[in-house]
Amino acid sequence: MKGKVLITGGAGFIGSHLADELIDNGYTVRALDNLSPQVHGRQAKRPDYLNSQVELQIGDVRDENAVSQALEGIDTVFHLAAMVGVGQSMYQIKDYTEVNNLGTAVLLEQLIKNPVKKLVVASSMSIYGEGLYADKEGKPYSSCQRNIEDLKNDNWEMQNENSILSPVPTPENKKPNLSSVYALSKYDQERLCLMTGKAYNIPTTALRFFNIYGTRQALSNPYTGVLAIFASRLLNERAPMIFEDGLQKRDFIHVKDVARACRYAMEKSTANNDVFNIGSGRQYTVIELAERLAAVMKKHIQPEVTGKYRIGDIRHCFADISKARELLDFEPKIDLEDGLAELADWLKDQIAIDNVNKASVELASRGLTV
Ligand code: NAD
Ligand code: UD1
Repeated sequence: MKGKVLITGGAGFIGSHLADELIDNGYTVRALDNLSPQVHGRQAKRPDYLNSQVELQIGDVRDENAVSQALEGIDTVFHLAAMVGVGQSMYQIKDYTEVNNLGTAVLLEQLIKNPVKKLVVASSMSIYGEGLYADKEGKPYSSCQRNIEDLKNDNWEMQNENSILSPVPTPENKKPNLSSVYALSKYDQERLCLMTGKAYNIPTTALRFFNIYGTRQALSNPYTGVLAIFASRLLNERAPMIFEDGLQKRDFIHVKDVARACRYAMEKSTANNDVFNIGSGRQYTVIELAERLAAVMKKHIQPEVTGKYRIGDIRHCFADISKARELLDFEPKIDLEDGLAELADWLKDQIAIDNVNKASVELASRGLTV
């Protein structure tokens, strides 16, 4: 056996794929997860997809006794447990801050008492806010923001005084620009882990994940990632609802590529005490995603472009992954076409409760869509 790994949030989407990756490579895995009802449904039972070799400890990252117990005999910790919805974070501020920020603080205090050989924390591209932009002459713009008046007039693109700016790949050294409670909490998690790791000699790596897709993403959670939301709509014969004009760009990476990147971050000392973008290095518009997903699911349903803006959202962001390529030897392997085909195959047997309308009303009633 190579070593024993604890994954907080290990029953979730990324955590369960990471568990498979680690078990396939000879590691023993324990998961600490509270089986949050928003992700796992009200009956909160061990998910069928979770590898049978995973030792699941049902418990909360905010509970120091549960965390202390989960750390017994552990060599490496992946800290993935979090609440993950950007929109929802703008009104469940206390819950997001408790689970994401306080949960990390509890884990770190227990790690001081029970140090491990390595800590890897799931950070997010959301900490950048807007990605990096450049003007026609190639001059970079690193702290762009759109103003609400422009958004109300459907002027979606980023501009300076003279012209529209073009998005370019975002490297790790772009200054953070936090535009949601969720993003703030991810930055807090990242910094807390790196800072505490350094002080107590626990080699630590923060991985800034871009938009991840694949099987096992919680379909009935209306605050989950966009592809799972679109899949849930399509399974219920409804049109995906697109914010803005659908031409916003993101970097979609398959969850199995992410799981491999996580393992490399654990195994390679070149990853220690550093941050890495984990994305595909490619860019897709949200409307293209909706259309391609409908096509692979064989649904003749056009997306509905709402022209609405979700407070906290950004226009474009996609990854510069040269640092992960160089220091982690990481190369994404699954292209979007194959990844969507695999997703569609899994979706055929899934039932999704479409809670998107309910979530839209929740956001709109709080003035969180414009
Ligand atoms: P997920 O919701 O599928 O998994 C999160 C897991 O954490 C769930 O199983 C949930 O039950 C558990 N959890 C929630 N609160 C908990 C608590 N208080 N105590 C213990 N467990 C708790 O989400 P995911 O997409 O797998 O996200 C995993 C991590 O990756 C998160 O930290 C998220 O911020 C980060 N991330 C995800 C993406 C993405 O595109 N999915 C991108 C960037 C970062
Ligand atoms: C997602 C993750 C977040 C992660 C971040 C990193 C979830 C819930 N959120 O946030 O944890 O840190 O990626 O990249 O997994 N959109 C629509 N219609 C919808 C839903 C979304 O048009 O019904 C659009 C949004 O406006 C946005 C894009 O799709 O432009 C992506 O949205 P979303 O999947 O929520 O991702 P992020 O906010 O990027």
